[in-house]
Amino acid sequence: MYLDIDGAMSYATVWLNGRLVGGWPYGYNSWRVDLTPYVEFGARNQLAIRLDNPPESARWYPGGGLYRDVRLTTTAPVHVAQWGTTVTTPEVSERSATVHLAVEVDNTTGAPVQVQVETEFFELDAQGRPQGEAVARIPAVGFDIVAGGSTKATSRAQIASPRLWGPPPTQQPNLYLAVTTVRRGGRVVDRVETRFGIRDVQWDPDRGVIVNGEHIVLNGVNQHHDLGALGAAFNRRAAQRQLEILRDMGVNAIRMAHNPPDPQLLELTDRMGFLVIDEVFDSWEKKKTPLDFHLVFPEWHEADLRAMLRRDRNHPSVILWSVGNEVGEQYDGEEGAAIGRRLVQIVREEDPTRPATASMNWAKADMPFPAEFDVINLNYQGEGIRQEPEFEGTERIRTPPSYPAFRAAFPDKVIFGSETASSLSTRGTYLFPVTPLQSAPVRDHNGGGDSARQLVSAYELYAVDFGSSADKVFATLDRHPYVAGEFVWNGFDYLGEPTPYYSARSSYSGLIDLAGFPKDRFYLYQARWRPDLIVGAFAERIKFKAVLLFSVLWSPRPDLPMAHILPHWNWPGREGEVTPVHVFTSGDEAELFLNGVSQGRKKKGPYQYRLRWDEVVYEPGELHVRVWRGGREWTEARVQTTGAPARLALEADRTAIGNDGRDLSFITLRVLDAQGRAIRNADSLVRFEIEGPATLVATDNGDPRDLTAFPSPERRAFSGMALAIVRAVPGQSGTVRVVARSEGLEPATVELRVGDDGEPR
Ligand code: GAL
Repeated sequence: MYLDIDGAMSYATVWLNGRLVGGWPYGYNSWRVDLTPYVEFGARNQLAIRLDNPPESARWYPGGGLYRDVRLTTTAPVHVAQWGTTVTTPEVSERSATVHLAVEVDNTTGAPVQVQVETEFFELDAQGRPQGEAVARIPAVGFDIVAGGSTKATSRAQIASPRLWGPPPTQQPNLYLAVTTVRRGGRVVDRVETRFGIRDVQWDPDRGVIVNGEHIVLNGVNQHHDLGALGAAFNRRAAQRQLEILRDMGVNAIRMAHNPPDPQLLELTDRMGFLVIDEVFDSWEKKKTPLDFHLVFPEWHEADLRAMLRRDRNHPSVILWSVGNEVGEQYDGEEGAAIGRRLVQIVREEDPTRPATASMNWAKADMPFPAEFDVINLNYQGEGIRQEPEFEGTERIRTPPSYPAFRAAFPDKVIFGSETASSLSTRGTYLFPVTPLQSAPVRDHNGGGDSARQLVSAYELYAVDFGSSADKVFATLDRHPYVAGEFVWNGFDYLGEPTPYYSARSSYSGLIDLAGFPKDRFYLYQARWRPDLIVGAFAERIKFKAVLLFSVLWSPRPDLPMAHILPHWNWPGREGEVTPVHVFTSGDEAELFLNGVSQGRKKKGPYQYRLRWDEVVYEPGELHVRVWRGGREWTEARVQTTGAPARLALEADRTAIGNDGRDLSFITLRVLDAQGRAIRNADSLVRFEIEGPATLVATDNGDPRDLTAFPSPERRAFSGMALAIVRAVPGQSGTVRVVARSEGLEPATVELRVGDDGEPR
């Protein structure tokens, strides 16, 4: 009898019937304790888990408690070990794939045993269900296991015409299931299922990551583990929604900053086809906060690193292991490099198929540290750090743009930006004047509000001191085409680290706010990243070999016709004042009209990623942009001055949800004027009510300054929007009405169906 814990925050100790069984300090890892010696069979047992969450244990909000799944696993005395199956696919071609399987079986009895192990392989459909007959099998092999020992049996199978795993839209994330059966004396004693994918990943120093022969530019984001208003407790649907929103922006890769994620998140990245960097530590021996992992690093780094590698190595989405983020040991010369070497050695032992890295914001190309890693991951150094004149002569770390130096020192290694930008903004908030530069460090009254207002301008040109705007990062990448791509800091706003206004609750760096609403920056990335889904679907149909040919002839382009205008156009009192208008578009040329009067036609120049009309003088009415691409009409967009708030509108992301107590509906509220136009700067106070078998879990609006408790049914709209998160009462079915009211405004209602089925997730 085992207790399997997917994550307990933190310093967990497990007690059964008053006796200490074991525990695990690091709150992000998965681990198991053996309860068997302490169980009183046939009696009532008391299991207790003690947790201790010290303050200052992280640079962000870590959460606390049993925030991931906990399972009681009962097995026969002879059974497959914890994470006891390892699948690799050493040879992959269009015709056939070789699948290697290692199965480790534990014998907890006091006598030697003989077991027979066999495995069948099945294709999985898009919902993760096995399809049809087995596509391959490894026939039963017998082996002996000594008393109290374990044995690992390795074997291989061939899968003909494999359906490969790869990132959409040009590839599909096809998955397989290995079903392993263990028999003892002819009787089945264990059966385990291992999901895996068949894919070939190559690391090419001149181009970057090659998946199944196709060059995939890493259009990635960093993600923290919390889920906004829901806190750190994992929820599958909330995580899936985050991935859906990121996909809509064009993201194809995720870095798990800076700790092992909930294992269900990797099931989702497998199913949806994201490329993942799985990262284990934010600190080694040197601390970043007084009570962080450095306290236990000497005793626990090996167990923690091996746990992550063993748990996650069958996930096809994981392409790279990171053993650390910006650790203090980068500065340490040979001593720090030696720790890196030791960690990389552990990676090699557990998984010889994937490279290892550590992210560096300080180590230079000629230092011992970077030489230890297979892949060069730079944080912010690619663009250069604090190169602006205001930092000249200061004590603060200044670094010139570093891609060329690392390329020269490591011509055989892939290089990319594992953290880029750290640019900041508050959704839908525009402050004046607007910097004429492409990128500027945020300051009070220059991009920032002030410490009373705690706002950062959403013109999306401002960054932390060591960071850069998106535009500057794009220019750097385009100037260094050997760089494999970037992971933006960061995807969704997260709890904690509210740079630059530290009394706020949540970060300003997300491309998407804490509630899941896109900031203006979202569209700047979408314009560059979002590929053409139709071409992608075609590539999938014509399969592997054709994809290779195809990707040589055609490099994916952002083909989604889109244009986004900022700011909003409700500026009573700004009449006659300069109010710059910027357009983010996948087109290359545009003409802007204000109330029908042309403000000029502009074309993106080299290394320019937005179109800006910085001299527009405000008058209420309509902004209209017409966009061209390659000289052809491409798309258009409009923004109008709206009237006063008149009514509310609600929209659910899913109107049918399951009643398992976990499934969620995310409902977006907008404030509209009498003509039904969304008011992008409305801040009405809203109250959510629920009728029927559901509960309101939380509300939010994405405003980093809003300290209203998340479960509150009352929430002020922020920049015109608010969010309600609703869950069915477990086991109950029926119709739910979610109503939003605000004084003086027409209320809004949305109906949900809750029941056993929901929609497939
Ligand atoms: C990086 C760090 C991240 C986050 C970010 C904020 O240096 O690795 O965890 O703190 O800065 O800008």
